[in-house]
Order: sequence, then structure tokens, then C-alpha cells
Amino acid sequence: MDYVRLDGAALTLVFACVRGGTADLTYCGARLPEDEVIADLAAAGARGLHESQPDIAPRPGLLPERKGGWSGTPAIELRRGGQRLETDFKAKDWSAGSASIEITFSDHNLGADVVVIWRITKSDVIEVECTITNLSQQELDLVRLAAVSLPVPRRFDEITSFAGRWAGEMRETRRELAPEGFSHKSAGGKPGFGGGNWLILHDGASGEVLGAHLAWSGDYQTCIDCDPPGSADGRAVLQMAAAGDAGLGCLLAASSIKTPKAVLALAPDRSALAQRLHTYLRAEILPRREDWSPRKVHLNSWEALGFDLSQDKLMALAENAAALGIERFVLDDGWFGGRRNDQTSLGDWTVSADVFPQGLGPLIDHVHTLGMDFGLWMEPEMVSPDSDLYRAHPDWCLHVDGRDRPTMRGQLVLDLSRPEVADYLFAALGALLCEHRIAYLKWDHNRDLFPAGGRQTGQTVALYALLRRLRDAHPLVEIESCSSGGARIDYGILRFCHRVWPSDNNDAIERLRIMRAWSQFLPLEVLGSHVGPSPNPITGRRLAMDFRAKVALFGHMGVEADPERMSEAERAILAAHIALYKAWRGVLHQGALHRLDHPDPGVTGLIAVHRDEALALVAQTTFSPVFDAAPVRLAGLERHARYRVTLPEPWPGKARHYLANAGQWRQGLVLSGAALMQHGIALPLTHPETALLIALERLPA
Ligand code: GLA
Repeated sequence: MDYVRLDGAALTLVFACVRGGTADLTYCGARLPEDEVIADLAAAGARGLHESQPDIAPRPGLLPERKGGWSGTPAIELRRGGQRLETDFKAKDWSAGSASIEITFSDHNLGADVVVIWRITKSDVIEVECTITNLSQQELDLVRLAAVSLPVPRRFDEITSFAGRWAGEMRETRRELAPEGFSHKSAGGKPGFGGGNWLILHDGASGEVLGAHLAWSGDYQTCIDCDPPGSADGRAVLQMAAAGDAGLGCLLAASSIKTPKAVLALAPDRSALAQRLHTYLRAEILPRREDWSPRKVHLNSWEALGFDLSQDKLMALAENAAALGIERFVLDDGWFGGRRNDQTSLGDWTVSADVFPQGLGPLIDHVHTLGMDFGLWMEPEMVSPDSDLYRAHPDWCLHVDGRDRPTMRGQLVLDLSRPEVADYLFAALGALLCEHRIAYLKWDHNRDLFPAGGRQTGQTVALYALLRRLRDAHPLVEIESCSSGGARIDYGILRFCHRVWPSDNNDAIERLRIMRAWSQFLPLEVLGSHVGPSPNPITGRRLAMDFRAKVALFGHMGVEADPERMSEAERAILAAHIALYKAWRGVLHQGALHRLDHPDPGVTGLIAVHRDEALALVAQTTFSPVFDAAPVRLAGLERHARYRVTLPEPWPGKARHYLANAGQWRQGLVLSGAALMQHGIALPLTHPETALLIALERLPA
């Protein structure tokens, strides 16, 4: 038995490797003392045999297989000539640095090696990936290879999982990690609205959490087998894997397939988990995050004009946007080919002469003259059957020869793995980006991949290659990943994107919940957050501008409504919030995000703390059961520091009436971090659908 210890800043992993046997994770938790005797640690966790168990109790370890009596989901599944193969991968070699270990498992009979790599990154996040290599002369079909197989430490006994639908992303449920385990998968060729590629495990006793995610923009399978009969120590096994109808691919002699990375993170509580993951994204995943300029306020034409576009209307919209303080004007769907509705012209990426007789130039110039930059919507991976592209190349879409080509939103999917398709898109997008001053692309994806003829995983790999090519050629252009809202949000696509569209639902009540859920895994600067119209086109709900604007401010703020249809008073409230956003985005987009909890489930809050400043958003969604809501207790402050606390205006209509000391809240109270976090502050949160901002400035000691 060889023990390997890896240390991060606050984290220790201990692996136990047996040559010719298994490799297991003996310890995964807070950093251990330097002089911990690892052999004794392992002995303290060892179990003897119990009844009804194989004589040698099987250890699923880091590469669980159906062997020796273990009955859970195998991490690896191989076929040859359609025949499922019995595998027996044994640990052969391992090498370790201070923060990573690479373990080679070998199945001599099959002639295949699997290399499993665990790495603690500089942000104290764990990345895990596997590579299989076919060392035989015969082809192997790889049906399944989990990116991570985590023997779950026994203290994690509860799970928070996510589920959703279009316009209702990331609804979370917490429950016991019960014997039936957990299983979730997507099948649309992208993570979809299901949310199963994000998980949180909880130690119910201490509050410690373990976050898990698969950094992959295609289909996934997530499963947790709890105490599978035969297991050596009753630990659950969590697996996250990429998936596709035809498995993961064919391994020719001497070829390899690598899984995407799975990401694990440990933290003392959910706020600390969010901060750890945000730090990781900012430092290690997002494209050149350190060079980003302040996140500009967007105006997006979609919920303002839909398909009813003309140069004059767009120019007027741009003028009204600029008057509010908007900094980027995004032209959404409807500007190309014959695209007057959603049933036509995807693939024809040339400017529509009907809408723009002189091309896009005059509109873009106008937008720049107004002091804004310009963004453009595209859906590059798609083709409408009613398009010049489809008429010229009907074979370029994903299809199965001789079978129907069912559409979704009137469209089909291009097969990006065909070099001529990728080249066409690279040239079409490149032409637009070279001819026009375009700062930002909203990259949409509104259809599932069917029938894909087993090409789903290849499609995702080809998408990454296309995005990489475009980023290299146009490094200053920012990209948003949108997929009918949040159907393709993951750490894989975020290597190329600056922002995601968390939901098509701009209803501020829904959005509050959706933003809080996504912000568990993603920092506010990548989460697009727009003020929509009232009534909201999806929910029909009418909400005050003050509430809509405060909710939108806590993200990457934008507006997706026509200012012409707002009252003068609403425009003034919106402009004031845009100014507040500009004043506070440095804090929101670089700060540490803490989740605020309140005894009333109708009250929800977040606070971003950066250096000497902090900004909190506290919202009341339902009618308070009491006249005087419990004080809101803040988080993330320094206990002994003193803070000047103000409630930035504008305030919701009735707040002034209910505030005991309006004047003092304008001027600021001075309170210690300890008082703000323990005692809290009483806010007039008695009306449903109201929100307040709390601004804090740390005073010199
Ligand atoms: C998708 C997006 C929307 C909008 C429309 C345009 O639904 O999620 O934001 O861009 O497409 O067709």
C-alpha cells in the first residue's frame, strides 16, 4: 500500500494505491496537520468484513468496475464488435507532485490503459479527468468513462440537486442522500434545463459542503450509488460523465479519448463554496478575466422590438437607451436573411436588405455616436430548412440518411464536425466581425440535437474548436452563451465566453431565485440580468420598476424593454439604478459573494464584499406574515471594523413611510461588523415585491 498526500491551501487529499490492485481516496477534507501519520489515518477508517459480503470486499475506488461483487454503476464500459467486455483495470503506476497525482490503471487482457488525474488547482478546487488509450491492435468502443468517480466521505449525508425547464432554470431541492441514490442525465446534446450537472453534498452536522460539476457543454450522466451491496465500507460513489447516444467514440489501435474535467470543491458553508468557485472561474477558467473592462450596461432589442425591426426603430431605441445611461446596444434576432419570424433563414448570416437597405453600418455608427458599443445576436450552429444555406447544402445538418428531419423552433442543427461546415461558420462570422465594429456576440442555441446519429459528443468537441478559432482570430470580441436562456451553462463553455444568459425569464421574482441559484456556481459579472417589461411577457406579472431594476442591478445589468413604453417616472427610476450599478459594479464583479439567510422564506438576499466596500440586495417576494420583519443580518464583514451603512435611493414607494429614521439611513449609521452580522438592521420589508440595497463603507480604524 502506497499513500500519496496532496495539499491545497485549505484542503488535503490522501490516496491509497496498491500495485496490481485498486487506488482509493482515503481522505478528502480540510487540511490535515503536516505530521499526520497517514497509515494510522487509513487504519482508523478501515472496516472488517461483515455478513453477506464477498470474502475480499470490493473497493470501487477511483475507477469503479463490476468486479469482485461490487454492484454499482461501472465508471468504464467498453464494447468490441457490439459485445460488452468484462473489464479488470488494476493500478499499475502512479506519480505525484505536491498538488496532483496521475494513476495509470491497466487491463492487460484487453490491452487498454486508463490514466486518472486528480489535481488541486491554485484556487483550491479539485479537477479530475481520465484518459483511456487502446494499446491493442483491435478497435474498442468506449461507451462510458466517468470523468470523476468520487468515493463520497461518509459525513456527507444530504444532497442539493437542481432541476428546471425553459424559463424556470435551477430550482433546487435538498434531501437526504438516501439509499436509492441519485441519477440525472441530459439527452439534448447539451446540459439543457435539467441542472443535473451541478450538485452540492452537505455534511448535515457541520454545514460543510462539497460542490460537484462536469465542465462539459454536451450531454452528461450524473449518478450517486449509495452503499451498493458488496461495497467495502458503505461509502456512496458519485460519478459525473459525458454521454452520447453512441457512447464516447471508437478507439482505434494506439488512440486515446480524454474525458472532460469534473470539478469538485470543499467549503465550510454555501457562501464559502460560492466564493471558492468564483475565484476558480475568475483566475483559471474565464478568458483573460484579468483584462476585462467594467461590465457594460446592455440594452437588448428582443423584448423591446422582437422581430419588428427597422433601421429607424432601432436608431430610436438606441437613442432612448443612451439617454438612460446604457453602454452597449445589442441587436437581437431578426437582422439577417429573410428572418421576419423564427421559422426561417438561420444559416444565412448576411444582413437583411429589407430591414437595413444600407447594411448595418449606419445603425452601428449611430450606436457609436451615442457613446455605446454594439453587440449582435447569432445562432451559428443552426440552419432553417427555409434558408439558402440549407437549399445549397441539405447534407450539412445532423440527420440520419433516409429518416425524417424533425424540426424544433423550425430549425435543424449543423454538423460542426464536418470541416466544411466549421469553415463556413468561421468565414461567415469572421466577415461580420471584420466588416463591422462588433464588440459582443450573443451566441444562441435554441434546439436539441436530434436525430444526431450518435454524433453528440463530436459536436461539442467541434463547437469548442470553432469557439477557440474565433477567439484567437477576434480576441477582443466578447461572447455570451445563451441557449433559450440557461440550457448551455457550464465551465466548459465558459473558457470561451464572458457571460451567460441565465434565463429567458426576466420576471424579477423568478429572476431573484434563478440568479441566487446560478450565483452558487458563477460570479455575478458573468450572469446577464435584465430589466424586462411589465407585464412580463412570460409570466404576465406586473412589477414596479424599482423592484425590477434593483434585482437586475445584482448581476451584469441590462435592459430588455422599450424605454418609450415606460412612464417618465419609470425611466427616471431606471436611470438612477443604472447609475447605481455603474458606481457599484466594481464591488459586485470582484467581490466575495455571501448568501444572506432570513427567518422569513419570502426574504432573500445577497451581499458582495470587496475591500472597504460592500453592497447587499435584500428582497421581499411575498406578503410578510408579521408587521415588522426580523432584522436582516449581514455577512462577510470584519467583526471589529466599523462601517457606515446607508440605504441607497431610490427607495421603493412605501419604504419612506415605514422607515423609522429616513434621514439617518441617508446620512449613514455607523456600526461594527459584529453588530451588522449578529444584530442586523430592521428594514421596511412589509410589502411583497419590494427590495432594498444596503451600502457599506468601512471606516478607517
Ligand atoms: C432565444 C433567446 C432569447 C432571444 C431569442 C431570439 O429564445 O434565449 O433571448 O434571443 O432566442 O430568437
